[in-house]
Amino acid sequence: MATFSQRVFSGVQPTGNLHLGNYLGAIQRFVELQERYECIYCVVDLHAITVPQKPAELTRQIREVTAAFLAAGIDPRRHIVFNQSQVSAHAELAWVFNCVARMGWLNRMTQFKEKAGKDRENASVGLFTYPDLMAADILVYRATHVPVGDDQKQHLELTRDIAQKFNNDYRESIEANGFGEAYFPLPEALIQGPARRVMSLRDGSRKMSKSDPSDYSRINLTDSADAIAQKVRKAKTDPLPLPSEEAGLADRPEADNLVGIYAALAGRTKAEVLAEFGGAQFSAFKSALVDLSVARLGPIGAEMRRLMADEAYIDSVLVDGANRARAIAEQTMKDVKDILGFIRAR
Ligand code: TYM
Repeated sequence: MATFSQRVFSGVQPTGNLHLGNYLGAIQRFVELQERYECIYCVVDLHAITVPQKPAELTRQIREVTAAFLAAGIDPRRHIVFNQSQVSAHAELAWVFNCVARMGWLNRMTQFKEKAGKDRENASVGLFTYPDLMAADILVYRATHVPVGDDQKQHLELTRDIAQKFNNDYRESIEANGFGEAYFPLPEALIQGPARRVMSLRDGSRKMSKSDPSDYSRINLTDSADAIAQKVRKAKTDPLPLPSEEAGLADRPEADNLVGIYAALAGRTKAEVLAEFGGAQFSAFKSALVDLSVARLGPIGAEMRRLMADEAYIDSVLVDGANRARAIAEQTMKDVKDILGFIRAR
């Protein structure tokens, strides 16, 4: 088996409000992984334009996601933080993967079906091939670990399929070029913790999402303490007190969601939270959840606002990160071109 050095890659789209699901399912976990891995965190602006964007708004949102990364505690000097469009190798490798992935594989992607909705004829081609670009994001750094929320699981499986097919189809050339028996690692999705799928505060059967028309369905990272308190107090619940054990959360999606949020914010398991709050009414539990949410998210929101006021600093972080990312990605593209049999300057 070929061995690959351990590297984390993940991305967040700069499309609309960053919410608690993005934070607990992804960004908070990006921060933890910094201690154990070399990490690359990307604001995926090329992905954003698969659906219409207003240019000035997109610029602002690229800075906002960057500010969220930094405010949450990602260190852009020890690790890499950048926006995708500054490293053209992402788009270049995505083209190669468009030629590796099969139509049938992409036809099975549930996120495309959800996002394209009924009017599939009118969806952009980019929205359809989006998972190939995502595979390129990860594999252009030959990353081995990818922290994401549960909704990205299918895309990660596709990434592994693409890596595997490339390694198989070009095996002879990979060996002939001295890369051993496999060029790309099969990256592992890190989908962990009590908040891998944070649900809407209004409906425990739906994912918390940027596109939900109701702002009460989600807590945004930039919400004020008052807004957080109101949204938690209005969150849908059921009439029963909280159970004392996790099994008691089955068939109680709203209770399960709030307990999961509390656990993730507190760095505890759901079982530990229920050991403390089992038997409590929601009114008491919600008060504790408001306090915890405000204590955890308040400083992040404040730091995001401070950073957002310093555009030059944010942009300099992205340019510096992109320069370091490009050096890695360009080497991969040279290797891939050699493996494919293209001619290039030496
Ligand atoms: P995006 O921008 O929709 O979401 C960013 C991250 O937040 C996670 N997430 C959630 N986690 C838990 N509960 C939720 N309700 C919730 N909503 C969102 C997502 O799983 C994701 O980890 N395709 C990706 C971006 C991407 C990417 C990549 C990720 C592009 N290239 C390469 C990893 C590696 C996306 O649209 O995420």
